[in-house]
Amino acid sequence: MGKIRRVNSAPLGFFDSGVGGLTVVRAVQDLLPRENILYLGDTARLPYGSKSPESIRRFAQEDAKFLVGRGVKAIVVACNTATAHALPMLRENFDLPVIGVIEAGVESALSDPAAGRVGIIATRGTVRSHAYQHALALKRTGLIIHAQPAPLLVPIVEEDWIDHPAAELILKTYLEPLIEKDIDTLMLACTHYPLLVPVLRRLLPDGIRLVDSATTCAEHLKQELLRLDMLNDQEREGTLEIHLTDLSEEFETLARRFLSKSSGRIQRAVLA
Ligand code: DGL
Repeated sequence: MGKIRRVNSAPLGFFDSGVGGLTVVRAVQDLLPRENILYLGDTARLPYGSKSPESIRRFAQEDAKFLVGRGVKAIVVACNTATAHALPMLRENFDLPVIGVIEAGVESALSDPAAGRVGIIATRGTVRSHAYQHALALKRTGLIIHAQPAPLLVPIVEEDWIDHPAAELILKTYLEPLIEKDIDTLMLACTHYPLLVPVLRRLLPDGIRLVDSATTCAEHLKQELLRLDMLNDQEREGTLEIHLTDLSEEFETLARRFLSKSSGRIQRAVLA
């Protein structure tokens, strides 16, 4: 009894290459406001999207170790690139629930029985891993899948150029081949992209369904915690602790932009 209560009140551990994963945290805070959250952003080694699979796996292992060392009850890999390359390895190496962003996104994309032509935008690393393409094809035969690497979108979001004409031009260039293929669903397979939703809606033809990593992951996490009887039932609102491996003024400002609530004090993390 006592053990279960202690585990359930422990924080959920999130990690990402930077602060993009805070879009997932924001969605989880909305859906599960009583959960305590510990967030690690590996800003010193950002971006993961252009790194080799070996490096991404090593970084993910170190990130997860940091969170486990702080007593988290589950790990959320709030990064598409790290989920794509490291999820099976993390599940094997750590004896606690490890939740990624891909499974939930794929389920949500295919929750519409009419989804047949799926576009994906993501970092180069995520596209090259074929993790989304495989997961989609496994769940539904006959799907037409087009994955488009979109490496310039992360810097656009980080520079807050979302409404800049250059952002529109770059987005149009990435979206054009997908629109030409007549996609009915667009998966935003990177944790930075939820911030682009308003401009994406403006640029895409009506009727294309957007599926983002943040809300779908939050819903999946809630179902998993319910299933495992691991929800925190404390009365008060959960806390949020943010640790970044490189702490600069830019990252602090950016972190606050990604969250709806105050981020409190941001601390510097040292990984073992
Ligand atoms: N957070 C990463 C993702 O979701 C994008 C940033 C990066 O390349 O590290 O794929």
